[in-house]
Amino acid sequence: MPLSGRWTLTRYLIEQRRRFPGASGDFNALLLDVALACKAIARIVAFGTLADTVGTRLPNGANGIAPGGQLNVQGEVQKPLDVLSNEIFIRMNEWNGHLAGLASEEMDGPKQIPASYPRGKYLLVFDPLDGSSNIDVNVSVGSIFSILRAPQEAIDSGRDVTEADFLQPGAAQVAAGYAIYGPTTMLVLSVGNGVAGFTLNPNLGEFVLSQPDIRVPEQTQEFAINSSNSRFWEPPVKRYVDECLAGKTGPRGKDFNMRWIASMVAEAHRILMRGGVFLYPRDTKDPAKPGRLRLLYEANPIGYVMEQAGGRASTGRQPILGVKPSALHQRIGVVFGSKDEVERIERYHHEPAPSEAPAPLFAPRSLFRD
Ligand code: F6P
Ligand code: MN
Repeated sequence: MPLSGRWTLTRYLIEQRRRFPGASGDFNALLLDVALACKAIARIVAFGTLADTVGTRLPNGANGIAPGGQLNVQGEVQKPLDVLSNEIFIRMNEWNGHLAGLASEEMDGPKQIPASYPRGKYLLVFDPLDGSSNIDVNVSVGSIFSILRAPQEAIDSGRDVTEADFLQPGAAQVAAGYAIYGPTTMLVLSVGNGVAGFTLNPNLGEFVLSQPDIRVPEQTQEFAINSSNSRFWEPPVKRYVDECLAGKTGPRGKDFNMRWIASMVAEAHRILMRGGVFLYPRDTKDPAKPGRLRLLYEANPIGYVMEQAGGRASTGRQPILGVKPSALHQRIGVVFGSKDEVERIERYHHEPAPSEAPAPLFAPRSLFRD
């Protein structure tokens, strides 16, 4: 039985690995490097705007991993935090021999493993700093990651990875999670056997197990949506939100509360802790963009964690994890959180819109139908 407050992330991963006697340990080593990247980013984020100030010294960890030029010898940050976070993820993971390639929000195409390092069997996909509009205002941001297996033939040949190698449905993920940089830094992770939460103990510099088995409550009275987009919503979303807003006297018969942080990581975290539903649905705002969030490094990893925690993640029409991606930076409508609410929203998408529904007189089993 995992011991909350006693087990480090390392111990948790070793105990999980015992389920697979043949496992080599590569996977665990990779996750520890991902966690190290998150710790380094947490330190830099903690400096806030001071990180941009000439002469500010960053912690040694940040100095140590930066390639020449991005942090100068005085430890000055010369690049925006999201670019720096991307570089940290790359530097912490490209050398270890466990990856065949990387991809992220900050790079147009896949990043190859430099020839000087061995290639491994996993693909790492990440959003190095999610919630970028909150970076400058001291509101929680985070990093999201997804681990896939590279195609066997790419592993065997050691060839360069291609965009197509990454276009795997979310159900194929072997692990996914996120770090949240809030009042505390936390890592929330699933290796396919439920979801565990770890809190960074700043004294030890270690992630320590704090939530051994996170479960999303199936019901909720809290929703999150950017309602400034309401005029662009599709009818099923409008209907759902209208019914929430109608509260006790409406069809739902209960009052709802609403939250919008604008850091998806933070919304996902709140929902994992106490339930709720998050929507960034497909809308008609920009026909070129079928949704705001990205499938491979936002929707899929968060969807995986939600489902592993007993919640649900959907496009509104189908499970997120079943979508076959068509491009690395593909956008998609996203609904996730408490199971009953997500299922209700899916139901609304599948029911005919009220205007399309047959008039009662012509409905099946009505007077004028046989
Ligand atoms: O990465 C995209 C993101 O920053 C999410 O973290 C967040 O949920 C969303 O964008 C916020 O969007 P908006 O600016 O429309 O509220
Ligand atoms: Mn993001």
